[in-house]
Amino acid sequence: MSQAPPAEAFPAYPASWYLFCESGKLRQGPVSQQILGRRLVAFRTASGRAAVMDARCAHLGADLGFGTVVGETIQCPFHNWRYGCDGVCAAVPGLAQPPPFARLQTYPVVERHGYVFFFNGRDGREPSFPLPFFLGEDPDGFVAAPVFRYVADCTWYMNSAHAFDLQHFGAVHDRELLAPPAIDCPAPFARRNSYPARVVGDTLLDRLLRLAGAKRVETTLTIWGGTFAVITADFGRLKSGFLMAMEPLEDGRTLCHGIVCAPRGHTLLRPLVPLKLRLRRLFTHGYLKEEARRLRGTRYDPGHLGPNDQDMIDFFHWVTALPQESDHEGIDRRSASAVLRRAARPANIGAGTGGAAGAGIG
Ligand code: FES
Ligand SMILES: [Fe+2]
Repeated sequence: MSQAPPAEAFPAYPASWYLFCESGKLRQGPVSQQILGRRLVAFRTASGRAAVMDARCAHLGADLGFGTVVGETIQCPFHNWRYGCDGVCAAVPGLAQPPPFARLQTYPVVERHGYVFFFNGRDGREPSFPLPFFLGEDPDGFVAAPVFRYVADCTWYMNSAHAFDLQHFGAVHDRELLAPPAIDCPAPFARRNSYPARVVGDTLLDRLLRLAGAKRVETTLTIWGGTFAVITADFGRLKSGFLMAMEPLEDGRTLCHGIVCAPRGHTLLRPLVPLKLRLRRLFTHGYLKEEARRLRGTRYDPGHLGPNDQDMIDFFHWVTALPQESDHEGIDRRSASAVLRRAARPANIGAGTGGAAGAGIG
């Protein structure tokens, strides 16, 4: 058994995709929020393009979230400096040429299924990997349910490690493994665990599944960039899948945004899809909330991982070896454990935005 990496090896805010907000929120104008240890703003230009950039104006730091959209630019609420989607200041009232320092970091944006996602990478560079989805599937053929959220009482890497936590599949999820998990890397920046299992739980969901003839399930859990999970469960006739965008919080916990997706279906059955999505969302959220309740207080300690934690140890090595690129080096490269040390937090933390505190996506 190899030793897991020290806590200092994990970056605070990995180069990965994150959920900024629902697309509809940009209808009223720019939206700013504290996210990944910095202030960011998202806005939609007159032509319909969505952009995410640093929210602190390069002049005196006013919050662009209180500004306005003017054509293809965002205008600062204080002295009306205007920035384009490339972050470059396009106009300063009373000046022929904006000063050279007047530019802000921008982030690659993808809008999908009614959500605005951004990549935390280096300014002007392509993302290290595309916004993840179910492998081999076309996102245009799917629709998404409203996002559900909860705060996991652990770091982002403890949360994503559940995808490789062999012991908890049985202990927490009532899944009796029919074969050892198969672990591979189907793409750069992606690590996947696939396993077949018997559905043996006494929960309402498991009983309903067995009633519907779903006695066995093939599960795949793919972690991209350390913080973005794509999960599928194939019960034979029944299939389900969801995305989990994990957002490391400044106090060391993790805000989990869960989005259940389902195929659009054939035209005749399309009216039933919203109901199907709602049901899947209900069960998926319930499934994760129960895990969250049981896993409160989880802490990383590389010296306390045993021989049957080897898959998790391998994941920790894999994730700490991922290249990190950032212009916010002072923030992103600071280790997650340094963030934890800074944060004074009680041992037992209550619910976040969506309900339960705890952890787990596996
Ligand atoms: S603070 Fe933004 S223009 Fe002065
Ligand atoms: Fe889990």
